[in-house]
Amino acid sequence: MSTQSKSVDQSKDQLHVLGISGSLRMGSLNTAALNAAVELAPAGMKIEICDLSPLPLYNEDLRKDGFPNPVSEFRERIAKAGALLIITPEYNYSIPGVLKNALDWASRSPDSPLNEKPVAILGASPGNFGTVRAQLALRQLCFAMNMFPLNKPEVMIARANEKFDANGRLFDEPTRAIIGKLLQELEGWTSLLRRNHIPQN
Ligand code: FNR
Repeated sequence: MSTQSKSVDQSKDQLHVLGISGSLRMGSLNTAALNAAVELAPAGMKIEICDLSPLPLYNEDLRKDGFPNPVSEFRERIAKAGALLIITPEYNYSIPGVLKNALDWASRSPDSPLNEKPVAILGASPGNFGTVRAQLALRQLCFAMNMFPLNKPEVMIARANEKFDANGRLFDEPTRAIIGKLLQELEGWTSLLRRNHIPQN
């Protein structure tokens, strides 16, 4: 079994956020949105990017022998983060298997690092609905995993293929503004939870 760090970075001047994209694709719109979030983070926030590709498929037999190393590292990084930022594509009206697999690994006992973790959600799709259905599915999972999702603003990047340039840079100003607002609200939400002494692992 891995030894899970129980300490969340409670640094007063900087909020450490772990940013997770649910797409492994090189030209991913969602990973591009995560890169934009890194750029748009407020002064008091640092977003670290987490790559889900090393995680094996969930298998209870593997877990019984102890979490595989990439899983332990993933869980440790979540535990140390003050908050999460999850950026989800929409696959068949839900979240992709890659993201669900990662959350399933992270949620398992002992000491789920997702428990009571503040999280902000966003997603990008070339379609007109901008991942709204996947985001609802993710919010339902947050309930199961006892996470604390930020409710507003909801950030659905619809027709996302028209909003990033050939290098993957987000140029659409209203989208940049709402991602900035989401991150500011995440900062406020996390500090509200801390002020009220809600334990975070
Ligand atoms: C999709 N896509 C898609 N888009 C959407 O808006 N609603 C949906 O239900 C689906 N379903 C779906 C299923 C599967 C299996 C794939 C592969 C794709 C399209 C999807 O939004 C598009 O491929 C995005 O570009 C995927 O995100 P990344 O990889 O660009 O981050």
